[in-house]
Amino acid sequence: MAKGTAKLSFVVLFVVSVTVMWASQVVARGRTTFQDQSQAKSNTEQRKSQTEAGKVDADEAQKLINNSDCKSCHAVDHKVVGPSYTDIAKKYAGQADAPEHLAKSVREGGSGNWGNVPMIPHPNLKDEDLKVILAWILSLKDAAPAPSAGNADAKTYEYKLPDGKSVKLDFPLFVEGSNEKVTKDVFRGYELYDSYCYRCHGQDVTESELAPDLKHSLNSGMAPQEFLSTAMAGREAKGMPSWAGFFTEQEIKDIYIYVKGRSLDLIPVGRPPSEE
Ligand code: HEC
Ligand code: HEC
Repeated sequence: MAKGTAKLSFVVLFVVSVTVMWASQVVARGRTTFQDQSQAKSNTEQRKSQTEAGKVDADEAQKLINNSDCKSCHAVDHKVVGPSYTDIAKKYAGQADAPEHLAKSVREGGSGNWGNVPMIPHPNLKDEDLKVILAWILSLKDAAPAPSAGNADAKTYEYKLPDGKSVKLDFPLFVEGSNEKVTKDVFRGYELYDSYCYRCHGQDVTESELAPDLKHSLNSGMAPQEFLSTAMAGREAKGMPSWAGFFTEQEIKDIYIYVKGRSLDLIPVGRPPSEE
């Protein structure tokens, strides 16, 4: 009798424990499944609202821009060759078709929306990257307007020309107290010019048969902005390469001030003495 009871309780124990194990597994599996489902649901919702509201990933957008040629021609708060990103955002604020229109502009290039300097085409930019960039640009519509370049207190530098006249520039050519030691910026311009521009425009901005004499271009009235635009956008059809993506705005400005100094005959041919 005692033997039978022991056997029975063993069977009962076995059945109960198996049932408990099975049940707990079901509960666990059920819970996981439910969690997975809710996770998946919130992911889709998130993705949906991202595309719907054009959610902005500023870090990613800036990374993409820095890896492209955009930064040679655009800045957030001031015009470079093309309009500032803030101005673009303000112009297209509230226009539902702005992302589409702008994507077409960037991909195909063109001019006439802001002036007559062309934007070069970007046929190889990935659709999803362009979306991220444009969503960020368009998000800048509420940015405070850039402080206008305070021309009122802009410093000027006066130099006596070889012919006795004098000229006022809004940047220095020489270090203070010297009329031959050029500033770091001018020296950098000289180095860049004689590394990249000389082969068509002539060593030290002299003459060449391949391309215009840039001294002459400046002396006949080419403005700094036009110099910058031409250098960045190029005129590929006429043999002038585009330097966007290769040079920064500052580097072309450095080249410009060196060429300006040469065009005024204030900087002689050859390696100019500099502050270092
Ligand atoms: C060589 C200089 C240059 C480069 C490089 C450049 N842009 Fe532009 N961009 C311009 C100019 C000039 C305009 C104005 C064109 C016009 O008037 O239609 C412009 C216009 C734009 C506009 C406004 C277009 C419109 O229809 O109003 C956007 C947006 C823009 N650029 C984004 C970019 C992005 C993004 C990149 C990099 C992938 C880039 N740009 C590279 C010069 C450049
Ligand atoms: C491969 C040859 C080549 C190189 C290198 C070159 N250019 Fe040019 N550049 C030209 C040609 C050709 C023209 C004339 C285009 C035309 O007929 O409109 C020109 C025109 C220009 C103009 C306009 C001049 C004017 O009077 O209209 C500027 C500014 C200029 N280049 C700047 C530069 C700068 C700055 C560099 C160096 C970063 C440079 N170029 C490098 C070939 C070159």
